[in-house]
Amino acid sequence: MKNTKVKIAGVELKNPVFTSSGTFGTSDEFADFIDINKLGGITTKGVAPVPWEGNPAPRVTEIPSGMMNCIGLENPGVDVFIRRDLPKLAKYDTVVMANVCGHSVDDYATVAERLEDIPTVKLLEINISCPNVSGGTSFGVDPKAAEEITKRVKRVASQPIIVKLSPNVTDITEIAKACESGGADGISLINSLTGMVIDVKKRKFVLSNKTGGMSGPAIRPLAVRMVYQAAHAVSIPVIGMGGIMTGEDAMQFIMAGATAVSVGMANFHDPGASVRIVKEIERFMDENGIDDINEVRGCV
Ligand code: SIN
Repeated sequence: MKNTKVKIAGVELKNPVFTSSGTFGTSDEFADFIDINKLGGITTKGVAPVPWEGNPAPRVTEIPSGMMNCIGLENPGVDVFIRRDLPKLAKYDTVVMANVCGHSVDDYATVAERLEDIPTVKLLEINISCPNVSGGTSFGVDPKAAEEITKRVKRVASQPIIVKLSPNVTDITEIAKACESGGADGISLINSLTGMVIDVKKRKFVLSNKTGGMSGPAIRPLAVRMVYQAAHAVSIPVIGMGGIMTGEDAMQFIMAGATAVSVGMANFHDPGASVRIVKEIERFMDENGIDDINEVRGCV
């Protein structure tokens, strides 16, 4: 019998497929489309100490082979998340990773403290890489700041922390190593790439924030390269993401060195994508004589 189980910071997943933060709601919104129990894990939308409205519309647009967003981390705030959203997730047999955001180090620490000892949340994803809010990427593009925020959150968090990295840097390995030395239990990458689209007829930016984060298959080769580099620079587990649309796309990240993967934009294109990708990974393993998914991690 083949094994698809993987472990991230001591937390076992039945298969290596997470859904990505911001593409899967704050609770079980996708339950109408898929059996959430079939996923290795889900990552909830970033949550801050207080509710945020996000940026004004328009805040999404299509690009060739992908999309751009400038949502601005709209979220209900950690108290509503705990009271309204997390209880609905408690009934699912999947790992819940809560994405944590903020404008300041204190914001991140406050959310981590509020989520302390909530049994439904098994992992925290520390989002130091949102390109659409003030302060969003400032921790993710400076190794010193990345290390400091990791240390601070690690001190107060009761769950393992996975730091989510920005691709908008010159050397991803520096940031990955800084998070590891700050005490991160894992890293996830990549968040979206900062881009810009101009409507030439209107002579205006398409997105309200002028810039937005690019995601989808357009960025996949870049994401695979960065996951490969980061996975070879640190010894903590890596969750790879960026334009995964199929099981074979997911296998690229695993062969590059990721322990698990995360499916993001594909959920908008096909709400059943994440569970389909789990099945496609299993089929790929059958067809290619892979008995244990862990065998091929980093095999290239
Ligand atoms: C957003 O809400 O602006 C996107 C989230 C992110 O990039 O982390």
